[in-house]
Amino acid sequence: MADETRAEKQSWSQFTEKELDYFRSQFLRPYRSTLAFTDWLAELDCVRPGTEILDLGCGMGEFSNHFAKTFPAVRVLGLDNNPQLVAEGNAILAGTGVGNLSLALGDLYGLEAHRGKVDGVICTQTLSWLPEAEAPLASFADTGCRWIAVSSLFYAGPVSAKIEVTDHASKAGSRESRESFYNIYSLPATIGFLNTLGFTDFEHRPFDIDIDLPPPADKGMGTYTVELKSGKRLQISGPVLMSWHFLFAERGRADGRVSGA
Ligand SMILES: C[S@@+](CC[C@H](N)C(=O)[O-])C[C@H]1O[C@@H](n2cnc3c(N)ncnc32)[C@H](O)[C@@H]1O
Repeated sequence: MADETRAEKQSWSQFTEKELDYFRSQFLRPYRSTLAFTDWLAELDCVRPGTEILDLGCGMGEFSNHFAKTFPAVRVLGLDNNPQLVAEGNAILAGTGVGNLSLALGDLYGLEAHRGKVDGVICTQTLSWLPEAEAPLASFADTGCRWIAVSSLFYAGPVSAKIEVTDHASKAGSRESRESFYNIYSLPATIGFLNTLGFTDFEHRPFDIDIDLPPPADKGMGTYTVELKSGKRLQISGPVLMSWHFLFAERGRADGRVSGA
């Protein structure tokens, strides 16, 4: 892959209105995945009052906003390397009065300044859009955090898929298409890797959506659902089956537990 294409896949510049709306609309109504992931973390009882939590690749802070409201006794710092998203997120948050949340420009591969200060690291809907999972996870672990929680595309078997998407329906400014990764990572391989970083206890579950989403009119990327006879809904975006999972990894309990649906 040419260097400039790799850089564009990671930098996300020149947004379409549809893409910006994806971030903005969650401030009015959190997505089902945001509600389900936050509820799941509450069930896991991992969030300790008085601690600091990083939300990495936070976009405009749309997930962080719901999370910080749900857990008012923690401090949440959202970091994203896109100045446009951070600036707009901060402008929206200035009017909402969520006192335990701040957003800043930051690189999820360079977290040295947060070493020893963080209890939990959250990363929603971002890992699959990076070139691979191990370097970001190693960077999260390097903060010394007690736990990591991610929502991403995972396969519950020993196979990973590197997927590079060109969305010709997404044009903005001089950009003729949107180039992005939609990587699907092997869940057991990811758990094995986190284990080498000192994480010993794992929980995971698929995220099955409970509402119908229509396909986008332009047939470009954008999640829609197809209901199976079982009542379960497949989530599909363009040509990609969106196999959403939540994964939680914690250090240092004695039992070395791996459990998941
Ligand atoms: C698909 S969005 C997810 C946003 C948000 N977490 C959510 O759940 O709605 C991925 C985000 O990761 C950010 N990102 C990509 N590479 C990054 C990096 N190296 N450091 C920080 N943020 C990064 C992008 O700017 C983008 O906002």
